[in-house]
Amino acid sequence: MRALVVTPRQPRSARVTDVPDPRPSADEVLVRGVRIGLCGTDHEINEGLYGSAPEGSEVLVLGHESVGRVERGTADLPDGTYVVGIVRRPDGCPNCAAGEPDMCLWGRFTERGIGGLHGFGSEWWAERPEYVVAIPDALAGVGVLLEPLTVVEKVVRHAFLIQRRLRWEPKRALVAGAGPIGVLGAVLLRLRGIEVTVFERTEKAERRALLARIGAAYAATGATPLAEIVAGAGPIDLAVEATGSGAVGFALIEHLGTNGVLGLTSVSGGDATAEVPVARANRLLVLGNRAVFGSVNANRADFEQGVRDLGAAQGRWPGFLGALITSRVRLGNAAPAVTHDPRQIKVVVELGGP
Ligand code: BGC
Repeated sequence: MRALVVTPRQPRSARVTDVPDPRPSADEVLVRGVRIGLCGTDHEINEGLYGSAPEGSEVLVLGHESVGRVERGTADLPDGTYVVGIVRRPDGCPNCAAGEPDMCLWGRFTERGIGGLHGFGSEWWAERPEYVVAIPDALAGVGVLLEPLTVVEKVVRHAFLIQRRLRWEPKRALVAGAGPIGVLGAVLLRLRGIEVTVFERTEKAERRALLARIGAAYAATGATPLAEIVAGAGPIDLAVEATGSGAVGFALIEHLGTNGVLGLTSVSGGDATAEVPVARANRLLVLGNRAVFGSVNANRADFEQGVRDLGAAQGRWPGFLGALITSRVRLGNAAPAVTHDPRQIKVVVELGGP
């Protein structure tokens, strides 16, 4: 079968090639690949900065944002069901054993399409039922957005868990970054009735218009300083950083309201440094009970909540989720698509499955 692969650590090695068909074991379902979405992590893997192949393989099949269709299933996952694969596999540490591999302690987890396990970017794949999540047929077209959505599902779930330290009724949120994670974060927060302002550096008229459809405000720091944007929005109860830049995360501390919480999602590559006003930032954190946390990956609960929220978003803003998929390529033409293109929101690779 054909698959989209890279040679890990070799820059710009993405290519479509033949790989062996999956041979599902007795406890696995066989899935026909329908499509995958590409994200910044795939770009970094294709730049040679990140990622590792499974043991004994020279290549890594890409794809951790998936939709497939069960070809040979079980009583609970009948043939024909649309499914999305969960990314991370546990390593046996106490947190993994408790069903929270996203909070892994030992760091020996593997991730499909990222580290140590082949991804879902192939015509067929196999997986154990506990690592796939069924989605309704009506969500098959936008199901590739489920995995990126889970990244912010976890951030929002954890923000609410952290804020159980006080009486907290978040009214206003600030989202840094208008890429897929930022926009999906805005969707989640709007579904929860929170006012949202999304900002990025350079104004993109089409992002402003898109976000207006879900009642989220948009601003560009190229035109308006962040302090002014925040002053216009009002005190920020929850901030989510989704720009890819570590510097933005630290800068956001200054813009959090009293008792506010900031969740960081960027896996910022490289070794950039920046000057931080530590006395002021520390004072704000202490005197205003502000909290900052990092968040990676997501667990099954976030995928299940994500399915409900995708359905709610489809119902409330018909066509919105589909509009986030700005480019579709066939598997045979997928290799050049594994590079960052700022004009795109979500690039999707069609794997041939129905
Ligand atoms: C994926 C996560 C993964 C993280 C780090 C992200 O792109 O969505 O599932 O844990 O990269 O590898």
